[in-house]
Amino acid sequence: MRLALIGYGHVGRAFARLLENKHAAYPFRIVGIRTGRHGSAHSERGLPLEPEFGPSEATVEEFLDRSRAEVVFEITPLEPASGEPAIAHIRAAFARGMHVVTANKGPIAHAYAALRDEARNAGVLFRFESTCMDGAPVFNLVRDNLPGVEILGFTGVLNSTSKIVVEALRQGRGMEEGIEEARRMGIAEADASYDIDGWDSAAKTAALANVLMDARVTPMDVERRGIGRLTPERVAELAATRKTVCLVSRARRTASGIKLRVRAEVLEETDILAAVRGTSNLLLFHTDLMGTLGTVSLSPTVGQTAYGLFSDLVDIARAL
Ligand SMILES: NC(=O)c1ccc[n+]([C@@H]2O[C@H](COP(=O)([O-])OP(=O)(O)OC[C@H]3O[C@@H](n4cnc5c(N)ncnc54)[C@H](OP(=O)(O)O)[C@@H]3O)[C@@H](O)[C@H]2O)c1
Repeated sequence: MRLALIGYGHVGRAFARLLENKHAAYPFRIVGIRTGRHGSAHSERGLPLEPEFGPSEATVEEFLDRSRAEVVFEITPLEPASGEPAIAHIRAAFARGMHVVTANKGPIAHAYAALRDEARNAGVLFRFESTCMDGAPVFNLVRDNLPGVEILGFTGVLNSTSKIVVEALRQGRGMEEGIEEARRMGIAEADASYDIDGWDSAAKTAALANVLMDARVTPMDVERRGIGRLTPERVAELAATRKTVCLVSRARRTASGIKLRVRAEVLEETDILAAVRGTSNLLLFHTDLMGTLGTVSLSPTVGQTAYGLFSDLVDIARAL
């Protein structure tokens, strides 16, 4: 199967490595890569992990036409205010009858319902498992394993960078040091203020609500308060009483609509939401038929994000 990647940063490279490792059993081929500033690369026989980049085509449409890909991966940085240009990239792929997989939550947070319908009309598949909790089952769990279940709400700790930063503050280090650590781990957004101010969590919250609750919202509809004003002193004060701070996403269906919120909450250290340390994530679904159940991912790395892309790809390949 021919694959094209739009974006070749931490996630794109981890995905390419995973494909190389699994090539014998899953013979997918990356035939085109387009970046923002480093140009494009093409190869009919499949690109190596470190391809030689030449000048980019003038438009993403020209890139896609040249690649003749069957599945396109949208893995450019999050733009939380609009979801662009990723939404335009995805539409360009749909218009060419190409299936799309994305790890970029912007399009799901801003335009999920429209993109879902456009994919259906174009007769292509659209998958986005890595947008929340990397490769851990979230959307595919509900889609494939919970038939008839209505999601009434969810509670999650979904942003790893903020957890690394709180941990740094707890050790008496500064916020910048925590952000640097998250950067070194390859998990911070290109603009880390999106993690600290809660935009990444708001985008994930909107994405989850759009897909699982048909909320038709954007990140702007999520009440948001990040961890930007937290200090090592405040975190130490809380630690002395066995409490901590977590950036928690909450959604619930009410009589007046779906309420969405991201907030730095003070939690007991023994609270299930606080119990998952480091980069670990936790998401609880509140449902009508299955009570509350959840997904937990312990210390995921960018390798698990790559796995989410891979599982979407295998899902598409099986459906064809
Ligand atoms: N890192 C994680 O752990 C993780 C986890 C889950 C989801 N995600 C999501 O995955 C996406 C990618 O993350 P990342 O960590 O791989 O980002 P990254 O390391 O910053 O890489 C971004 C890539 O996108 C390219 N790019 C930027 N603008 C572009 C454009 N307009 N057209 C084509 N390419 C463009 C960049 O090219 P240049 O370098 O040449 O500018 C770079 O190759 C983001 O949406 C992120 O939210 C990441």
